[in-house]
Amino acid sequence: MHKFESERKSYTYSSTFKVNMPIPVQGRHPEEIIAELKTLKKDDIQWRNGRLFSYIYHPGDEGEALLKASYSEFLTENGIDPTSFPSLVTMENDVIGFMTRWLHGDSETVGHLTTGGTESLLLALKTARDRARVLYPHITKPEVILPFTVHSSFFKACSYFDLKPVVTPVTANYKADVNAIREAITENTIMLAASAPSYAFGVVDPIREIGEIALEHNLLFHVDSCIGGFIVGGMPRAGMASTDFDFSVPGVTSISVDIHKYGYAAKGCSALLYKNDEIRKYQYFICADWTGYSIVNPTMLSSKTGGPLAGAWAMMNYFGEAGYIKLAAQTVETTRKLAEGINAIPGLRVLGGVPEASMFTFICEDNLNIFELNDEMNHRGWKLQLQLGTHVAPANIHLTVNRSHIGIEEAFLADLKLAVETVRNVEPSQVQRIMGEELSGEVDEQSLFRLLSRLGIDPSNLPKRMAVINEVMDLLPAPVVKELLGRFMQGVYRPV
Ligand SMILES: Cc1ncc(COP(=O)(O)O)c(C=O)c1O
Repeated sequence: MHKFESERKSYTYSSTFKVNMPIPVQGRHPEEIIAELKTLKKDDIQWRNGRLFSYIYHPGDEGEALLKASYSEFLTENGIDPTSFPSLVTMENDVIGFMTRWLHGDSETVGHLTTGGTESLLLALKTARDRARVLYPHITKPEVILPFTVHSSFFKACSYFDLKPVVTPVTANYKADVNAIREAITENTIMLAASAPSYAFGVVDPIREIGEIALEHNLLFHVDSCIGGFIVGGMPRAGMASTDFDFSVPGVTSISVDIHKYGYAAKGCSALLYKNDEIRKYQYFICADWTGYSIVNPTMLSSKTGGPLAGAWAMMNYFGEAGYIKLAAQTVETTRKLAEGINAIPGLRVLGGVPEASMFTFICEDNLNIFELNDEMNHRGWKLQLQLGTHVAPANIHLTVNRSHIGIEEAFLADLKLAVETVRNVEPSQVQRIMGEELSGEVDEQSLFRLLSRLGIDPSNLPKRMAVINEVMDLLPAPVVKELLGRFMQGVYRPV
């Protein structure tokens, strides 16, 4: 037994996440290392079979081979210094050029590639803050107006950059409430934001109306099209109706689109575009007054691999504009077939009407237990995404549909029907009753542990079926859930 074996066993989540590779003193043979890396993957989620509805956007086997080859080709090149690697500048300008045309920008439009949607949103808000510091120095507590359905990264940006998030309600169809945005504007507002579409409900906010408000009040307006830019941009080009969302809408000053999602590039690639250089310049970090080399960082990282950029460039050349348009149309058709089929199953209801893009969410009605349904589908090999309830919707199941799902509609719906039948026969959940008994007063550590043990949950050893845990999370107050998730993550990441 390796000398670390006993310590590995005591690792908090060792039975859930099989961590087993302490780094040796002596180096090992490359073949052995690669073999070990491949075995490490064996407990990972399966994604090649079109049964996973999140995380992975697979360009197909041929596309994947091209993506890996192009990524590897530029793995070592360093984006820190454009003068040393003009190849990277050329590719970035090509990619941003394509995105400019895709988003109906003009000769003034500029942008950069970032490592993902989160970095794009962080930078869009940092840019707004730094711009306001220069142009409106009297604003000491800058505010950003965020419809309730925006992605969590906006809140991350507010927390990182000390901005005040002013959250506005959404209407009955889960879209930003335009009047509420208008009313929320104060003398401290520096930016409006909206989604095209929002992740959770897959609907596009009324970008045109919000753009009008931005113009009236001379405010920046960021459209988060991270997940849907390739879809809602492709739909009208394919002759399908969709909501205007891009630079063709007056008032829009920046847009983010993730190429590592529906652009089918490798992870680590999002495009952030600005209306002009007058806004983009506030994104840059420039340092010429330290002891080392002069630094100009357009984005957050300094040293960065050229891999994701080369991968994006290769994927754009591989699919071409026509390929993305076709994929958008096919993906939306599949999404609508799935949503229609789900609506036809008694006890299930899709929220927000006919999907406007390539994702949607559905809820259970008639006392059908959504947490059990999620587990049952998981058991049948389908990995869906459970979203906890909020004041706008009860707990729901989310599907992000992409090219891997084209053609699986019937198999999915057949299994979902069977899963619903199975769940109808499950004993009614006791979670709510037991929680009422154990957490009647203040929720503290002791009462939580008592509750978990009564429900048969061992937090150090998560079960395959998560229904009870998910139901507890859904019912607990958000601050308690946050605390639990934080502790869980700290338990997961332990040095070996
Ligand atoms: C609308 C939206 N914005 C931003 C993001 C964040 O993207 P990333 O996970 O690449 O950081 C996502 C991710 O799903 C998203 O759906």
